Amino acid sequence: MKGIILAGGAGSRLDPITRVASKQLQPVYDKPMIYYPIATLLQAGIRDILVITTPADRPRFEALLDDGSQFGVSFRYATQPEPKGIAQAFLVGADFLGGDPVALVLGDNIFYGELGFDEAVASFDGGALIFAYPVSDPRRYGVVQFDGSGTAISLEEKPLRPRSRYAVPGMYLYGGDVVAIAGGLQPSDRGELEITDLNRVYLEQGRLRVRTLGRGVAWLDSGTHDSLLDAANFIATIEHRQGTKIACLEEVAYRAGYLDRAGLGALVADMPASGYRAYLEEILAEEPG
Ligand code: DAU
Repeated sequence: MKGIILAGGAGSRLDPITRVASKQLQPVYDKPMIYYPIATLLQAGIRDILVITTPADRPRFEALLDDGSQFGVSFRYATQPEPKGIAQAFLVGADFLGGDPVALVLGDNIFYGELGFDEAVASFDGGALIFAYPVSDPRRYGVVQFDGSGTAISLEEKPLRPRSRYAVPGMYLYGGDVVAIAGGLQPSDRGELEITDLNRVYLEQGRLRVRTLGRGVAWLDSGTHDSLLDAANFIATIEHRQGTKIACLEEVAYRAGYLDRAGLGALVADMPASGYRAYLEEILAEEPG
């Protein structure tokens, strides 16, 4: 399965922070926001990733992430000239996908905990798979409603009167037909190809599956000043308490076996003195195995 990270958009809700660098390049505590969704894909076993950015920000993402070979993975880049909807990612990424199944993750979504995405990816066999997560204010999100047996019966984007408290997080799995289905969508009233409309097509075809993320999972978005601060505080709290780092890409790649010890050592040797480097030096000093 391939991966797409959608990291475009105007980021206008974070203005003036986003005037000179996009939202997904802003820090969430000790690393750029985009590290978190990248780690989500790498930990799910996905190593072939397309990063979609605005045209203006693309060089900055390339400078930050390069071609991925330093982590034993592949990053490619594409641009979305205007933010015309999340589902447009599949049209921008059509050549990259070449008919393969895909996991799409939004560049401002942070997942932490027992996610089960690796198993979901490994067992995925077509159609669409989305996730459901209980939130206190579902009106801010796509909302999914279930019947008594747990089957999805409705999907709505930012409903004024939500039919459930289950939001749909920004991690979605689709079969290779997603490009054709996205190509058949009509823009919404706000002129976007809506991810919720795409998912509704699968729902109507009886090919949408929904998994609930349990209470042991934290799902945070970081698209407003307050949610960005909440996300940073959450990451800092866990990292301080455990003495670990969340979404340290070098560590994720190393522990996943994408990067060997020598490769990790070479990356660390090039880093300036920092807490980040010191953390990786401790990992290098661990007994192998
Ligand atoms: O975070 C999960 C929610 O994401 C879902 O529950 C909603 O169903 C989904 O519509 C979306 O809602 P948002 O209000 O968060 O969407 P937003 O327009 O802020 O876009 C989310 C991210 O995707 C944002 O970081 C920018 C990026 N984006 C968005 C659009 C519309 C793009 O790169 N290009 C786009 O055209």
